[in-house]
Amino acid sequence: MADSSGKSLGKSTTGAGAPAVSDRNSLTIGPDGPILLHDVHFLEQMAHFNREKVPERQPHAKGAGAFGELKITEDVSKYTKAALFQKGASTEVLARFSTVAGEMGSPDTWRDVRGFSLKFYTSEGNYDLVGNNTPVFFVRDPMKFPHFIRSQKRLPDSGLRDSHMQWDFWTNNPETAHQVTYLMGERGLPRTWRHMNGYGSHTFMWVNAQGEKFWVKYHFHTNQGMQFFTNAEAEAMSGRDADFHRRDLFAAIQRGEHPSWTVAVQVMPYADARTYRFNPFDLTKTWSHKDYPLIKVGTMTLNRNPENFFAQIEQAAFSPGNTVPGIGLSPDRMLLGRAFAYNDAQRARIGTNFHQLPVNRPKVPLQTYMFDGNMTYEHSGNAPVYAPNSGGRPWADQTGSVEDGWESDGEMVRSAYTLHAEDDDFGQAGHLVRNVFNDAQRAQLVDQVVASMGGVRSPVRERVFEYWKNIDAEVGRAIEAKAGSGK
Ligand code: HEM
Repeated sequence: MADSSGKSLGKSTTGAGAPAVSDRNSLTIGPDGPILLHDVHFLEQMAHFNREKVPERQPHAKGAGAFGELKITEDVSKYTKAALFQKGASTEVLARFSTVAGEMGSPDTWRDVRGFSLKFYTSEGNYDLVGNNTPVFFVRDPMKFPHFIRSQKRLPDSGLRDSHMQWDFWTNNPETAHQVTYLMGERGLPRTWRHMNGYGSHTFMWVNAQGEKFWVKYHFHTNQGMQFFTNAEAEAMSGRDADFHRRDLFAAIQRGEHPSWTVAVQVMPYADARTYRFNPFDLTKTWSHKDYPLIKVGTMTLNRNPENFFAQIEQAAFSPGNTVPGIGLSPDRMLLGRAFAYNDAQRARIGTNFHQLPVNRPKVPLQTYMFDGNMTYEHSGNAPVYAPNSGGRPWADQTGSVEDGWESDGEMVRSAYTLHAEDDDFGQAGHLVRNVFNDAQRAQLVDQVVASMGGVRSPVRERVFEYWKNIDAEVGRAIEAKAGSGK
């Protein structure tokens, strides 16, 4: 055994704690003879090695992260009673950044959306915000999510990634326009994780001490300034150092440069949601900052590297379903779908009791009625295993209205959201192209879309031109002219 400095801490042992006989020589009959089946230490090493990986995350497989703290500098108690957001509070956080489509060994600098996952170890249990570096997403119904991810991954026959498949999905689902515009713009190539913003993306609920409810969107603005790679820089970096983003974050923290983000929220009064010009629960939309300006909350700083990548990053389990008192979900059906998906994935990926691992375990006493199962470590001795019970073991019994709930009625349907006055698939994407991007960024967008169309065949090719003309007529025409009609 050795500590993190490599200093020897004594003799190596077997898994059972007995001295290991040799980590260099297996037990053989004579120097040239066969290995013996009762070399238990050798067999243990071989067998454990065969099991030393867990499956990678289905999406967001390539990533890394660090620990730090969230400090609340402003008073937002009129919007939420959540302990972690009270002025003066300081909460330990784990952040993990990732690409979406690439596998575990893929280059950090492939064009993609970046994951921005946060786990806050609060005094009321863990609160997870599992967002991205863009404020919107590709689809607005979770039914589409597996189809979307498969279209970005690999072809069934060749195992290759395929732009035809990507554009086929996007153009068949025009609600993707806003996020695809972000992806094809600068945000698709952040220079480092330190130089990108993070967003909760969804609309969440905040509840104050008086029980008043608000809708919120989270913004984490990088204090390092947003910086991006050009295509050429990103491509060169993919070859030179596939782990560039991972290395950059680790090295920066190691040399004492602790990246930080200013945390702010947009707050919408509860009743505004029905009449706001956009459906505020549609994940493909942002809220205008003029309508709902940013309200500063505090600062998040990352200042501690993991000591063990596998234990603390690979086995980290984030879930948008992990909320704490004073914070709730919302009618955003993507968010509601995600509330199921993550812990289910983690039971399969890590194991039934993934929540007992130190990196996932809340820093508060646990009283859970989840019992036994593979690799049980924590237990409650002989306390009653059922509720209600007469054995003095606490149990919960909330009835009546739900503090972080909302009203809903109507027939069961399978349909799109109710449209609000300005809802459509292309409007906000067009606004981004025309009013947020400058001339150079628009030119880069045209170049990038054309570059991404290699291998896109008819009729998808024609649909790509239509898609962009729907976003912005001029940009659409420029893409068509540059790409040519080549089929
Ligand atoms: C219904 C839609 C979605 C489903 C079903 C879904 C499902 C998943 C699953 C199963 C994982 C792997 C979890 C694990 O193995 O630990 C994952 C990872 C992730 N997803 Fe989603 N996802 C959805 C939408 C989104 C959206 C909208 C965002 C961002 C706004 C997002 C951001 C992330 C991030 C950042 C990770 C990586 C988590 C980590 O760092 O461990 N996902 N997603």
